[in-house]
Amino acid sequence: MTDSGGELGERTLWHGRFASGPAEELMDYTVSLPFDRRLAADDITGSRAHVRGLVRGELLDGDEAAAVLAALDDVERELADGTFVFVPSDEDIHTAVERRVTEIAGPAGGKLHTGRSRNDQVATDLRLYTKRAMADVAERVMVLQEVLLAAAEDASEVYLPGYTHLQRAQPVLLSHHLLAHGWALARDLDRLLATRDRADVSPLGAGALAGSSLPLDPAGTAADLGFAAVFDNSLDAVSDRDFVAEALFDLALLGVHLSRIGEEVVLWSTDEFGFLKLDDAYSTGSSMLPQKKNPDIAELARGKAGRLIGNLTGLLVTLKGLPLAYNRDLQEDKEPLFDSVDQILLALGALAGMLATSRFQTDAMAAAADSPYAAATDLAEHLVRQGTPFREAHAIVGEIVRTALDGKGSMADLVADHPALGLSAVELLGPGVSVTRRSTRGGAGPAPVAAQLDRFRTRLGEDRARLASATAR
Ligand code: ARG
Repeated sequence: MTDSGGELGERTLWHGRFASGPAEELMDYTVSLPFDRRLAADDITGSRAHVRGLVRGELLDGDEAAAVLAALDDVERELADGTFVFVPSDEDIHTAVERRVTEIAGPAGGKLHTGRSRNDQVATDLRLYTKRAMADVAERVMVLQEVLLAAAEDASEVYLPGYTHLQRAQPVLLSHHLLAHGWALARDLDRLLATRDRADVSPLGAGALAGSSLPLDPAGTAADLGFAAVFDNSLDAVSDRDFVAEALFDLALLGVHLSRIGEEVVLWSTDEFGFLKLDDAYSTGSSMLPQKKNPDIAELARGKAGRLIGNLTGLLVTLKGLPLAYNRDLQEDKEPLFDSVDQILLALGALAGMLATSRFQTDAMAAAADSPYAAATDLAEHLVRQGTPFREAHAIVGEIVRTALDGKGSMADLVADHPALGLSAVELLGPGVSVTRRSTRGGAGPAPVAAQLDRFRTRLGEDRARLASATAR
């Protein structure tokens, strides 16, 4: 038991109000430095803008500002080259930077926190981080989209069974299948950029919760920091973590999309499917079974989706029921965000490499797709063209399939012998024929897929331009 508080060599930011120092257990439990250190660069950026705002409000004179800005430069350098020495009272990165600035700049450093609270400061830092992280993830999403596009272009006429209920349904072009994942990623990209836009509001100047009596310049510091807008309500500014929740949702859904790609790679690389061969560099071996080649990247893309969803739900539960304005609970926003960003960047890189180097086994795909049963819908549509109501056509073909499955004749013979079908319909059963019949917009056949490839390329180009203009602002 300690009743006089811990033995911290340094004073806390808030020592004035307290007769004793903080207990060791309090510090152990509440410090965020181990994980918010990665906000250091954003914290320094925010502090520089705040200093310039204080100068405009004549709260700092030129000499004082120069001293503080020079100290911030020193701190930045010390943090970059690893010479920055943290002390036990450094609760978080904000505390650490301000302490060191004051050590270097002397009394002028003590003015850095004028009109500012860690509440608006940490929200500012995290928004700067989130804007950059969303752009970084968006960039990597596009790299994966390019890998899918290149594979789709390469695949030209290759086809495989399309599945529903994981049962063979109708043949589709491999390009079509690959682009299906590409379009899901296009929506992810859209969400990431929209989240970035909503994060693009400066909370600096909100103070602890209520603004200030001092002549601060929130609009000026917002512009200085490259924010598109400034907060409207100080209570909201310091307590709003919607942008973190949105980012975590975007990353969770992106993770879900990657898990679906992962699951297909797992299936396709089995001997049972045999659709895909992974490159040695992107597969792992077994410690006991010499013959094994495992799709671990794909499995982790599948497995880590759980963790991304957990990060989202964890934060939503933290936010739920929080009274206005800042509460220390909000410190729990950072670890899930950093973790989801890190995990998604790793997953995107690994999947892009894995897909770019894997080889599709096109003969196995065609063999699986060329079952005559896969053309059943084409036979029914053949009848529909001749005026048979679809329900009736469905029943006729269904009966032929059942008869063939019962071993009472081949599909080709049964179709040839059927009065409403005949030899012209037998051609529909030929290898590779069925997929060519899918001709409607967005469909799985060669003509619509060629048009789709064009649209996908155009979209990717537009998204690149969108990202470039967002990050240039
Ligand atoms: N480390 C804190 C966080 O991440 C900084 C804000 C602390 N504010 C406060 N009033 N204790 O949320």
